[in-house]
Amino acid sequence: MPDIYEAGDPQLPPGAARCPGPSAQDIIARDADSPPPALTRQQYEFLGDEDISWSRYTSAEFYRLEMEKMWCKTWQWACREEHIPNAGDYYVYDIGDYSVIVIRDQQQTIHAFVNSCPHRGMQFCGAGESGSGKQFLRCPFHGMSWHLDGSLREIPCRWDFPHIKDDQFRLIEIPSDTWGGFVFINLDRDAKPLTDYLEVLPEHFAKWPLENRYTVLHTQKVLPGNWKMCMEGFMEAYHVLATHPEGLRASSWANTQYDVFSPHVSRFLQNLSSGNPHFEKPLSQPQLFEFLGHNADDLPDGLSARQAHADHLRQTLGAEMDVDLSRLSNSEMLDSIEYHVFPNACFFPGIVIPLIYRFRPLGVDRCIHDIMMLRPVPENGPRPAPVECVKLGIDEPYVSVESFKTNRLSFVLDQDTANFKRQWAGIKASQKGAQTLGNYQEARIRHFHRTLDSYLQA
Ligand code: FES
Ligand SMILES: [Fe+2]
Repeated sequence: MPDIYEAGDPQLPPGAARCPGPSAQDIIARDADSPPPALTRQQYEFLGDEDISWSRYTSAEFYRLEMEKMWCKTWQWACREEHIPNAGDYYVYDIGDYSVIVIRDQQQTIHAFVNSCPHRGMQFCGAGESGSGKQFLRCPFHGMSWHLDGSLREIPCRWDFPHIKDDQFRLIEIPSDTWGGFVFINLDRDAKPLTDYLEVLPEHFAKWPLENRYTVLHTQKVLPGNWKMCMEGFMEAYHVLATHPEGLRASSWANTQYDVFSPHVSRFLQNLSSGNPHFEKPLSQPQLFEFLGHNADDLPDGLSARQAHADHLRQTLGAEMDVDLSRLSNSEMLDSIEYHVFPNACFFPGIVIPLIYRFRPLGVDRCIHDIMMLRPVPENGPRPAPVECVKLGIDEPYVSVESFKTNRLSFVLDQDTANFKRQWAGIKASQKGAQTLGNYQEARIRHFHRTLDSYLQA
């Protein structure tokens, strides 16, 4: 029986060691189906093993640098297109002190305007606000107004402003674009195009059109820790051993694949429902099938539990969602596949784990975590409207959300977020002053910091 706790082979160069047992690619190959090419790719490089200072998380100066040099230079998703389907619909996106109104004009064009009145700075709309029916944007302070394309509409008592030239008094528009049904914005008016910024992502997601999905769950929860610390808690599966022990039976968590594709994009690929070879007595296939919620006797001869479970879900979930899932591979159906796009977003293309994350700082020591679950739009019938966002405070668990509590993911997310208060307290109490990362399983965290540095040092 392989021992996942064994010491590394000193002959191997750093970063080359892997957990014994079948790799994620071995398991996908055994599925004997046709996964999209993106799922058979691997791209890892050793990025060093130096400690990473906690001051990057705790220092007010570092936070200021992130605001000044990173957040205002990077593409971030602000909302879904389905949040603003009609002319006059709007959605406010806030990041630190920056605030942006995303709005659709009468020609259906989406604009992103700085949420600050050119007169005396009043915000047109409050933080996090959304709504519909705007014919124009009117400032609530003195009533100046602008058309939805940003051009000046009216200045009350115009006689007092002979010095204002209409074409120089437009709303400040920043770049916006869409991908996968998300509206992205960039506070940098000289930003490179979104498609360049997303690097390999559009190619990988070509078979997973997120624009053809709709939002069935949206939560915004305040988390007690720096945004990077909280986000990094979702970028590795190493913590499954101690944080999600009930998941160990069905997942070879330590064989999760980690990819660093390009400066802005990394990925993990964790096989689920595949069993775990690292137990003294691994589950037999019928036992695993039972563990996955079926009757052990119902496992068809010659089929693995993973295959039979995926077949079952292709039928039942396909019927429930009114979509044809028959052409999806087992991995697309079952696995936890997380793409991270710098700086703060994660996209999961899978069906059973269809999550979207976004992490935004609220000062140094708090952040706000958006979670969405997206489902394919039914093949027959209209696109369902997205659900309303549910806001959760630091101590409110995901299992308290009515529509989420029957989904096992709410329980898992509560386990993840329960770590943060103590981790943040531990970081601040640390006399070591830095974290020490694993070479492979935590490579995405190091990769993230490397990209962050490239912005801060520019
Ligand atoms: S601050 Fe907006 S009209 Fe005066
Ligand atoms: Fe977790």
